[in-house]
Amino acid sequence: MCGIVGYVGKEECVDILVNALKRLEYRGYDSAGIAVFEKDRLKTVKAKGKISEGLEHLLENVGKPHATSGIGHTRWATHGEPSDVNSHPIGNGRVSIVHNGIIENYRELKDFLTAHGYGFESETDTEAAAKLLDYYYNGDPIEAISRTMKDLEGSYAMEIIFRDRKNCVYAIRKESPLIVGKGDGEGYIASDITAILEHTREYYLLEQNEIAIVSESGIEFVDDHGFPVEKELKTADWDISAAQKGGYEHFMLKEIHEQPQAVRNTVSPRIKDGLPCFDECGLTDDKLAAYDRIFIIGCGSAMHAGMVGKYVIEELARKPVIVDIASEFRYRTPLITDKDLAVIISQSGETADTKAALALANQIGADTLAIVNVVGSSIAREAKMVMYTNAGPEISVCSTKAYVVQTAFMYLLAIKIALANKTIDNQRGMALTKALSDIPEKIGQCIENCREECQYAASRLQNADSLLYIGRGLDYALSMEGSLKLKEISYIHSESYAAGELKHGTISLVETDMPVIAVATQSALLEKTVSNVKEVKSRGAMVIAVARKSTVIDPTCVDYRINLPETEDLFMPLITVVALQMIAYYTAVLKGCDVDMPRNLAKSVTVE
Ligand code: F6R
Repeated sequence: MCGIVGYVGKEECVDILVNALKRLEYRGYDSAGIAVFEKDRLKTVKAKGKISEGLEHLLENVGKPHATSGIGHTRWATHGEPSDVNSHPIGNGRVSIVHNGIIENYRELKDFLTAHGYGFESETDTEAAAKLLDYYYNGDPIEAISRTMKDLEGSYAMEIIFRDRKNCVYAIRKESPLIVGKGDGEGYIASDITAILEHTREYYLLEQNEIAIVSESGIEFVDDHGFPVEKELKTADWDISAAQKGGYEHFMLKEIHEQPQAVRNTVSPRIKDGLPCFDECGLTDDKLAAYDRIFIIGCGSAMHAGMVGKYVIEELARKPVIVDIASEFRYRTPLITDKDLAVIISQSGETADTKAALALANQIGADTLAIVNVVGSSIAREAKMVMYTNAGPEISVCSTKAYVVQTAFMYLLAIKIALANKTIDNQRGMALTKALSDIPEKIGQCIENCREECQYAASRLQNADSLLYIGRGLDYALSMEGSLKLKEISYIHSESYAAGELKHGTISLVETDMPVIAVATQSALLEKTVSNVKEVKSRGAMVIAVARKSTVIDPTCVDYRINLPETEDLFMPLITVVALQMIAYYTAVLKGCDVDMPRNLAKSVTVE
């Protein structure tokens, strides 16, 4: 949700800001802009549209301002449509700001400021904050910022520049993330580290109620009373190649190919003597045996990983698992208690609803375990226990490798809970752990062996208006993710349905040539799934079966099939999803869609 960058140094800053913004474009791409210190004024250039279509063209036309410090923003619109005037930076020539988040009390602030003679041009909530800063500014930036922070309700990561504080950028945050990078005589500010990895891997995490002051004399932090704050300098272990396409046409395709390594990096460090080991976070067998229930909470793909987790944990550990959409959990007075474990799944660690669900679970007294990809993110810091998925940065808005590692983690957790509850013995635990360790190789085989089959399937789907994914058991849990991938990036309407539930209404949608993707990897349910496939086939559906190579399915009821590598039924989702990702990817490519930046979306949904 909106990306923020800032730079203070010795170099011409426009290209630095624009390049950093491009790395954050996955956070939002409705409009983009920069404001820099040009001679004695603040020069703002901003435009509607993606950076390459709007801001860069405008900079070519008006000429790049010469400056060595400035701020930048790429927007995902919340208040006010995507337009030039609603783009950030927003200000009045004396003060200029960029903002990620939502100022909830902007209407009251606007009324107050209007009564004090301020006019407003944009429809944004941000403008109220910019004008409030101007109202409080009497030559003391820290005082103006502190007073503004006290008045603002909602969430923000914000950079502020004052015309008369040349080459100095101030930054604050509440809820939304912000880091300050340390270069060689240079300071950077960014929503996340990927924006500045090409310049530095050293950074500070800005905390709430702190103000970062990045100037030509260095980087300082003060609290909201102006007292200095000492902070730890951290080093990111991601390198710049992780944030580049590396020869692939899209980040999504690159990230699909990174999945074997991502699963290895997530699973291997958690295996000791052939069994899962969670010593790193203190999740002991005693605790796991004592929990009444497991809640798994997340949004979108993260929640879908939890759906697979539910099937696997209930199957192996015989513990009740409740999977919750974070935005539902937080508002329905959930029946979670201090005897339960809440597993919070998030790639970014910043998703607003997931964060709020975590806060609620913490407040009720449940144990909370965060499964997060971004190190040091809010959810990682606020949970009682944290374990990182080591997928590296995921840039494509459409999640692939993050989902796969989250799901792989569900298996580790399931085996661990089952051992702790003695529903499986060590021998079975070891066999399962070994099967999980073999998954990266199978994912690699799936990418290589199923690519062409998926490309062909995509060619059969590209003109569809609507389609169904069906499956039973784990195949159903997984098909939710397959369906989301397809609709998200190819804009073809699709639904996932429990195959046995079709005849209770949804089958009326099936007509001649409607594509139905039947996921059939669960041997015990195969016969039942095939019966459902026959029901749709006999009503004219064009059926694509996704099944193991060795699975025999009556060829008269399928039009085409994807032949997956073999593994135990229980682990099939980790392989099958790769084929579903590739079907979605190639369909979107054939349709000419913007695969990495689908319309209306943004990664890291930091607003409710
Ligand atoms: C879909 C997708 C989203 C995210 C969801 C949660 O491809 O990426 O559905 O999974 O927005 O995001 P995180 O995991 O960052 O909390």
